[in-house]
Amino acid sequence: VPRPRIFSGMQPTSDSLHLGNYLGALTNWVSLQDDYDALYCVVDLHALTVATDPALLRDRTRSTAAQYLAAGVDPARSILFVQSHVAEHAELAWVLSCHTGFGEAGRMTQFKDKSARHGSDGTSVGLFTYPLLMAADILLYDTNLVPVGEDQRQHLELSRNVAQRLNARFGPGTAVVPEPHIVKATAKIYDLQDPTAKMSKSAASPNGIIELRDDPKVVAKRIRSAVTDAGREIRFDPEGKPGVSNLLTIFAALTGRSIEALEGEYAGRGYGDLKKDLAEVVVDFLAPFQTRVSGYLEDPATLDDLLADGAERARALARETLERVYDRLGL
Ligand code: ADP
Ligand code: NA
Repeated sequence: VPRPRIFSGMQPTSDSLHLGNYLGALTNWVSLQDDYDALYCVVDLHALTVATDPALLRDRTRSTAAQYLAAGVDPARSILFVQSHVAEHAELAWVLSCHTGFGEAGRMTQFKDKSARHGSDGTSVGLFTYPLLMAADILLYDTNLVPVGEDQRQHLELSRNVAQRLNARFGPGTAVVPEPHIVKATAKIYDLQDPTAKMSKSAASPNGIIELRDDPKVVAKRIRSAVTDAGREIRFDPEGKPGVSNLLTIFAALTGRSIEALEGEYAGRGYGDLKKDLAEVVVDFLAPFQTRVSGYLEDPATLDDLLADGAERARALARETLERVYDRLGL
């Protein structure tokens, strides 16, 4: 019996992923490898929607792959590859764009937000069709499940609609209709300076975010100066005490301890103690992680071979799907 197939990816739009990406996505990817047939992709074509210097984009693509590997994505069990290495992504995206309404694509809230901010001449057609490239990423592998955060829900819904439309127009089985894979246990990490906003690479202040490749000394300092709340009690209460609750979430996720156990341990102690201990926990996690990342980046030839091997395996699957779709459409 084939295992359900899962696809996920991140854009190489920064040198470093952050702790939210790690605890909210990567750790989940790693555990999914046991039960699913997983493809993990560095979606560099998507990154073209953000203007980037070519050399920098190339570095970031390698660095993102190295961080997947350092987090535990295992190329022996999963397919790890770079999107632009498999030309079929762009080919299927074109087909999907011809079966999507202009109005339907225009209703994507992420596009509406971004284009409102940048104006129509500051907004590329690529940003508009981005959700169709994402749909192609997913449908190309006959993906059953897609781990998605809240912000990608609408895009996954579009992928499902387009898949259903292809099946209605060209016969059942033209595309596999993907389902969202929501992991309740996945931690959502908030900004250290504004714990009501999620930790994000577009953070208002660099002090709010913990990048996986940051200097551990800087990270320790950021945790020690994290915004906490009025009062003194160390208690998990995301509404009333978002700052402290965020620190507890990070602590629990990185140590595997329960929030209740941590509340017990810090009963009657101050925020300073919690922050000092958490700074150590994060630094103890980051040091070996960064050593592993460096190991991959210091040997780019081996990393490139590994990614070429992943692309070859992905391409074999992609080819089959694309040939089926082309055949159904009369191409
Ligand atoms: P960013 O918000 O920094 O742009 P992305 O949107 O590129 O991050 O997210 C990549 C992955 O990391 C997604 O699966 C997303 O759900 C997850 N993720 C991003 N930020 C967080 C966070 N603060 N907490 C938990 N998961 C997150
Ligand atoms: Na985002």
